[in-house]
Amino acid sequence: MCGIVGYTGPREAYPIILKGLKRLEYRGYDSSGVALLHDGKLDVYKKKGKVAELEESLTGKNLHANIGIGHTRWATHGEPSDRNSHPHTSASGRLSIIHNGIIENYAPLKKELISKGYSFTSDTDTEVLLNFIEDIQINNDCSLEEAVRIALKRITGAYCILLLDEQDPETIIAARKGSPLVIGIGKGEHFLASDASPIIEYTKEVVYVNDYELAIVRPNELILKNLGNEKITPFITKLDMEMAAIEKGGYDHFMLKEIYEQPSTIQDCLRGRLNIESGTITMAGIDDHIEQIKNADRIMIVACGTSWHAGLVAEYIIEELCRIPVEVEYASEFRYRNPIVNKGDVIIAISQSGETADTLVALEKAKENGAFIFGVVNAVGSSIARISHAGAYTHAGHEIGVASTKAFTGQLAVLMMMALRIAIQKGTITKERYQQLLVELADVPEKVDAILKNAAHIKSIALKYKDARDFLFLGRGYNFPIALEGALKLKEISYIHAEGYPAAEMKHGPIALVDENLPVVFIATKDSYHEKIVSNMQEIKARKGKIISIITEGDEISPTLSDDVIFIPPADELIAPIISVIPLQLLSYFTGIAKGVDVDKPRNLAKSVTVE
Ligand code: G6P
Repeated sequence: MCGIVGYTGPREAYPIILKGLKRLEYRGYDSSGVALLHDGKLDVYKKKGKVAELEESLTGKNLHANIGIGHTRWATHGEPSDRNSHPHTSASGRLSIIHNGIIENYAPLKKELISKGYSFTSDTDTEVLLNFIEDIQINNDCSLEEAVRIALKRITGAYCILLLDEQDPETIIAARKGSPLVIGIGKGEHFLASDASPIIEYTKEVVYVNDYELAIVRPNELILKNLGNEKITPFITKLDMEMAAIEKGGYDHFMLKEIYEQPSTIQDCLRGRLNIESGTITMAGIDDHIEQIKNADRIMIVACGTSWHAGLVAEYIIEELCRIPVEVEYASEFRYRNPIVNKGDVIIAISQSGETADTLVALEKAKENGAFIFGVVNAVGSSIARISHAGAYTHAGHEIGVASTKAFTGQLAVLMMMALRIAIQKGTITKERYQQLLVELADVPEKVDAILKNAAHIKSIALKYKDARDFLFLGRGYNFPIALEGALKLKEISYIHAEGYPAAEMKHGPIALVDENLPVVFIATKDSYHEKIVSNMQEIKARKGKIISIITEGDEISPTLSDDVIFIPPADELIAPIISVIPLQLLSYFTGIAKGVDVDKPRNLAKSVTVE
């Protein structure tokens, strides 16, 4: 939620910040703004809407500065408006701040400040934090750095903040807790951002700032300290990311590019891990802890959104193959209830961004209770990856489209490999079945490619149903979570109301919605539930619902019941979800486009939810 960028060095700051904000727009796009400091003067510009609108509003302005900060917002406190946009300026006009996160105790602080005579120009928690810092600085007659430290000890919530001070023309003060911050190290210059995408074209050397750390950043100096004012040696990491990963590469949208990348991202995920000749799966994170994992009393999977759907698939697969009880939890629920977590439990956290606030806090809680944390994460070096005891990266590459696609199939591939690796070690799978599933998994990229070649047909179906008011997605067994994912994708990027349901459960409510206007998408590939789901199709057909079915090539019965059919290559039922989700991604993409939605940045959403 919210993207932040900062620069200090010899170059023009504005173009660097603007480009960075465009790359971070996936984190929020309700409004944006920049603060530029030159000749001892702060100029702040902000605008409701996307970054392009800010850019347009600044044409012709003198934006010369060698230091500046910029922000793209996902609104929490206060509606999206120019007034509530960041950067915010302190009461004296001397300080400017950008913030990603939420200050939870802003209300009493605001009251305290109002009683001291402060007034506020916005509804944000951020402006409260800034004036709180300024007030501390004035009262204690201390440096800004010291004031920030004192303030941060008194606030609760999450933050990544960057601050500029008119009287310190080369310095950016930054701090984080719960929201990400990366600092790029150049020659006589520093770049700050929520992720590495705004930095990559200038330097590959970065420092990931940790929670409760404060950075004092000047062109030739980076000082890291903890909140106790002790210096910390910055740990420099080399970025393993290329520019091509953050460009559209000829596609109209990042989402489409990411859908089409899946044959190679799934391959990247399997590479070096799955070996058919030797009949092995090598995953260091599992291998190093195999005794603990295979003897787990229970596995709990914690995730949000699409990653939660991957967790649901994993529940079915792990219970089937490893015979270990699995529970799948929404991180936001897990963190606030009083879950029973014991020492022998293994927690699998699934996250594309590795920064989702609810997942992160849920893990911290489970870790305190002695659970072993295994992270299935896409973003290398992210917070969840770092707090996990062990993990496996999905290697899907940078995902920019707000609706997750390639990260999801990467998660499924990793989770499938994990289940197989544990099962063979535990002896809960036969050698033959294991080998058969290895081969099936290795074939996935080719099958995904075959579905992508059928995109024109899927587009025609999308155009046929684009004006529907509601959609129902039904699946059973391993495909039930895919029905949920199909419905989520459609909602996210076409704004059509959609529900995902277990096909049989549909009789307990959603069937009341069925009439000749309701498209019902069946994910009905050939598996052990096939006959049952065909009966469910009959039930919908009898009530005149429009059936769109995702079925296995060679199925002759389902087409007779369907209005529209999407054939996909045959696959083992445990592997099928990685394949059957592909047509649903394309269906939502084409529906969203047909409805004129900005599919990479659908309204109200953000890719990385760093607020709870
Ligand atoms: C947001 C994104 C989803 C994502 C979810 C969880 O809602 O829009 O695409 O599935 O967060 O994010 P994570 O990064 O933890 O997988």
